[in-house]
Amino acid sequence: MTRWLRVATIALGASVVLISAEVARAESGRGAWLRYAPLPEALAARSRDAVPPVITSLNDDSPLVVNARKEIVRGIRGMLGRILRDERGMPTSAAIVLCTRVNCRADYPSMPLDGDLAADGYALRTVVSGGSRLLLVTSDTQRGVLYGAFALLRRIALGQSVNDLDEQQSPSSPLRWVNQWDNLDGTIERGYGGRSIFWDDGRARDDLTRVREYARLLASLAINGVSINNVNANPRILSPDLIPHVARIADAMRPWGVRVGLAVDFGSPKTIGGLDTYDPLDARVVDWWKERVDDLYRAIPDFAGIVLKADSEGRVGPSTYGRTHADAANVVARALEPHGGVIFYRGFVYDHHMDWRNLKNDRARAAYDNFRDLDGRFDDNVIVQIKHGPIDFQVREPASPLFGALEHTNVAIELQITQEYMGQARHTVFLVPMWKEALDFDLRVNGAASPVKAVVSGQTFHRPLGGYVGVANAGIDENWFGNHLSQANLYGFGRLAWNPNLGAREIADEWTRLTFAIDPLVVRTIVDLQMGSRRTYENYTGPLGLQTLTDIVGNHYGVAVEASERNGWGQWHRADAAGVGMDRTVATGTGFIGQYRPGVARVYESLGSCPDELLLFMHHVPYTYVLHSGKTVIQYIYDSHYDGADAVAGYVRSWTAIKDRVDDERYEAVLAQLKYQAGQAIVWRDAVTNWFARASGIPDEKGRVGHHPGRMEAESAVLSGYVDVAVTPWETASGGGAIECRSASCTATFRVDDQPGWYDVTIRYFDVNTGTARFRLLRGTQVLDEWTADDRVPTRTLDGSSSARRVVKGVALRPGDQLRVEGTPDRGETAALDYIEVTGPSRAAARSRSARPAPKGTPPE
Ligand code: GCU
Repeated sequence: MTRWLRVATIALGASVVLISAEVARAESGRGAWLRYAPLPEALAARSRDAVPPVITSLNDDSPLVVNARKEIVRGIRGMLGRILRDERGMPTSAAIVLCTRVNCRADYPSMPLDGDLAADGYALRTVVSGGSRLLLVTSDTQRGVLYGAFALLRRIALGQSVNDLDEQQSPSSPLRWVNQWDNLDGTIERGYGGRSIFWDDGRARDDLTRVREYARLLASLAINGVSINNVNANPRILSPDLIPHVARIADAMRPWGVRVGLAVDFGSPKTIGGLDTYDPLDARVVDWWKERVDDLYRAIPDFAGIVLKADSEGRVGPSTYGRTHADAANVVARALEPHGGVIFYRGFVYDHHMDWRNLKNDRARAAYDNFRDLDGRFDDNVIVQIKHGPIDFQVREPASPLFGALEHTNVAIELQITQEYMGQARHTVFLVPMWKEALDFDLRVNGAASPVKAVVSGQTFHRPLGGYVGVANAGIDENWFGNHLSQANLYGFGRLAWNPNLGAREIADEWTRLTFAIDPLVVRTIVDLQMGSRRTYENYTGPLGLQTLTDIVGNHYGVAVEASERNGWGQWHRADAAGVGMDRTVATGTGFIGQYRPGVARVYESLGSCPDELLLFMHHVPYTYVLHSGKTVIQYIYDSHYDGADAVAGYVRSWTAIKDRVDDERYEAVLAQLKYQAGQAIVWRDAVTNWFARASGIPDEKGRVGHHPGRMEAESAVLSGYVDVAVTPWETASGGGAIECRSASCTATFRVDDQPGWYDVTIRYFDVNTGTARFRLLRGTQVLDEWTADDRVPTRTLDGSSSARRVVKGVALRPGDQLRVEGTPDRGETAALDYIEVTGPSRAAARSRSARPAPKGTPPE
């Protein structure tokens, strides 16, 4: 199923090679970065010469090494079109040899195998032995051999030389886990790639094919642990009847070196254990944890460990008995310790019933306030798992000050791969640049350079354990995340966990070549898009440290500027008529800034040195405050939203330039996603800018906010059947309202008085998740377009999450034309309309008029 498309010239290092690119027609994305697509012929020829025809693993038939061997055979066959001889024992001719160093030394005492390798580290070496050229893949562990195999394949896929190899790599940290927030019923909390691959209907799925495939993807990134259930854990997970299910999942992942762990509920000794307490210092509770953990190890001898969320967001914890987090962590840790297991104790502890009226209250302080004084009181197999920022995966946060405060405690950084506050995979947002900022952030411990990455690797404070935890939430959708481009976030997480010194662009570049194509235009287009995507998203959802201005008490997706205010959740931005931002200074605010070491605190405390991008996270200022950039805060808010929305429109254009250079299936899927995102970015832009225009009373100096040439409100059309309805929050619908159809079908008719010409007609409608309403656009009696509202969106109501758009391009219009939208509701979806917008080349000279005058566009009073 492939076709020859073109011959292109690409530059590879110093040499220019003529390549012919072969593009498959349809790829579902399931193979992700391990698809092993055929390499362009010139590259393939070069690698074929360097790859020996035989592969052997000496006498190691462990599942890990067998998988490593099979993977290389599979990869070479896919990329180079050559089927290696898969042999056993000592090679008699040139060969790829996989072995642990112990095994290798037994067979080849004279082999140069020295060099320091951390656990799971690997070496790729070309050696000559007995006159034969051997390509050695070695490690001290079988897992490391597997990682070496993937590294070798990556080199080939990237077109790098595999001649004369001498590469040695060790992971930055011993613990590299993903957390899956999967519920036992098969749903996934904050999962955007479909249902669970692990669970269904209260038990492990019968068919664990996707679990095996996921383990392979994780192994290719050297991820060595996965917790397979929601941190908001169902206590049932520890009940005896579930253990065989966990064991089946562990069996499926083990051959890829991925060990399984569980999230548990701290109240379990009581809820499922039949005790009348879960006090961590009660001897019966101590015994209970020990027995449960012993049972787990009987069924799963390599069980990896436990994740615990306690005293957080309604989860029970040690506070019930006046005990500390250290008491809670240690009772579980001591049960795990004899088996070599670890516990990740989550630092995400805060009070979500805080009094918002008290200006000294601050959720950002919570992790530090809860854990700082417990430093040194956690056992050695406890790792405190700290979200990268002090709040909760917002679009912009500073690094958590807790990383600089725990000198005698193991810590891991928690990064969220699933894009909860970052567009939920409906928006393309490449998170690696954001993570890099956190990892590279210098905490100035004792005045010396001490980046977060050095703390989590254990280096700064000489800790035995540390690492990386990514909240992945991959699902059963063919492409795992619901968006092909979102796969780059899992890839990037794994690569950073292995080596946090890799650059974000380098990672994006690798991922694109492996996942899409090696074609330079494709690489440039996708890498540029990915690299700019986080700043773009920030520009239209929450610039200057405002955090993501979304519905924080609901789905965390669509825009809702005030949702964070006047409630106990503490994600306040405190915007009012006079100014905006949280005062977190030591001098006049919450004192959060004082949780950083002095070298960092000084920078944030002073308005003069606080970076613009975190200004409103750290300070409360008037809208007229002038940024380092020279703009006022309010004008920056306006400009960044227009810049953000324009940038996404640009992504659509640049994506269309690579049509035919990537397979049709993924091309069309990404195009649809980017078009949707471009529409959503306009919803965000208009909502946030209108909201701040109303709050501040200061107009946009460029005259854009509230003025939309060509826009005609649905409420001002001639309506048949449709009725006006207010939308909440008001800023998520143009003019604060929409129309909905409460009968079998309805129409809204707009009169156009533009100059004759070609126009694009944009219809803003609402797509909720209860039914599948139908729409038609007509000019007079001629049907111009029809579509259904069947998108996957997280809302049942008319709001920023359900606002969607349809663009009908190239419509010939002349004065007096009538454009009619017909809506047909379905199962509670009311075919609601917000506005239509007529734009075109002659728009500047034209004027548009609605049938019922309704001056709108300025925010309602
Ligand atoms: C976020 C998220 C929750 C999750 C929590 C956590 O608040 O919205 O769904 O449970 O983080 O990390 O525990």
